Amino acid sequence: MKEKLEQIRKITKEKIKDLKSMQELTDLKAKVLGKKGELTEILRGMKDLSAEERPIIGSMVNKVRDEIEDAIKEAQQNIEQALINKKLEEEKIDITLPSVKIKRGSKHPINRVIEEIEDLFVSMGYDVISGPELETDEYCFERLNLPKGHPARDMQDSFYITNEYLLRTQTSSVQARTMMANKNCEPIRMICTGKTYRREDDATHSHQFNQVEGLVIDKKERNVSLADLKGTLEVFVRKLIGENSRLRFRPSYFPFTEPSYEVDVNCFKCGGKGCNLCKETGWIEILGAGIVHPNVLKMNGYDPEKFGGFAFGTGIDRLAMFKYGITDMRYLYTNDIRFLNQFDRKD
Ligand code: DAH
Repeated sequence: MKEKLEQIRKITKEKIKDLKSMQELTDLKAKVLGKKGELTEILRGMKDLSAEERPIIGSMVNKVRDEIEDAIKEAQQNIEQALINKKLEEEKIDITLPSVKIKRGSKHPINRVIEEIEDLFVSMGYDVISGPELETDEYCFERLNLPKGHPARDMQDSFYITNEYLLRTQTSSVQARTMMANKNCEPIRMICTGKTYRREDDATHSHQFNQVEGLVIDKKERNVSLADLKGTLEVFVRKLIGENSRLRFRPSYFPFTEPSYEVDVNCFKCGGKGCNLCKETGWIEILGAGIVHPNVLKMNGYDPEKFGGFAFGTGIDRLAMFKYGITDMRYLYTNDIRFLNQFDRKD
């Protein structure tokens, strides 16, 4: 039995040295130490031994088993390490390789301009207000001094949904909404940016476009004047389009302001000399503005004896065209990737 034990020890240790995989290791373990394994067989045969021999052989078996178990454990660690090394070798990455460029989207030029306008006015203490695109005739026209049948309604061809509801033709509706919401007649300093709709569709007009509206109302004694309107619009246009922009105020007509003005900026293409874009005048119209009409104040809950202020409204799409030198408005809406790519993280 002693020889047999010695033989098992020797052969098993030889085999352990040659182990290559976990599977081989498991098989060998079962063959020697398993239920029907060689060492287990010996332990089973011990019942036939004499009482003197039994403890001697018993302790020998234990020694051999410990030795084999230790060797197997060591082999297991070696195999595991070898597997990890192999994996690391196979999965090695070359961090010096140039990466694949991921194309990121960029903000649409109109959204850029909207954000810029909002930031600018917030920095001057204005609130940014929004209103519904599906608007009532009351807020879009009547409360802005444009009763039903008023000829100035023809200035804006509207998409009516029902007799009462239409897609707003102007963000001016939010002027009325803001005043009406202000039950305590507190001073107002707000802008509203958003989509507007008109029944027109040609090279220079789209049926849907964006406007920004501004409204400042304060107590009469604070004397919000035309000079404040001019100063505000100058800051606005110069920051947005360029510090060298010059403005020209022309008397005009809007039902919600009196006096009313159209505001021109010197042509960004020819610098004011005259070209096809400005129709040889050197000026391009960009804004409508004026002093809020007393009727508008009255109809929206503000006493015109006690309050006064100014308002302005302009098309954001046209401002974006001036800012980025875009010559055709349709580029803004056709989502041509070659056009949009030019605004990649650029300003
Ligand atoms: N709502 C006018 C339009 O769409 C623009 C405008 C003119 C707005 C004068 C105003 C204003 O607030 O005072 O043509």
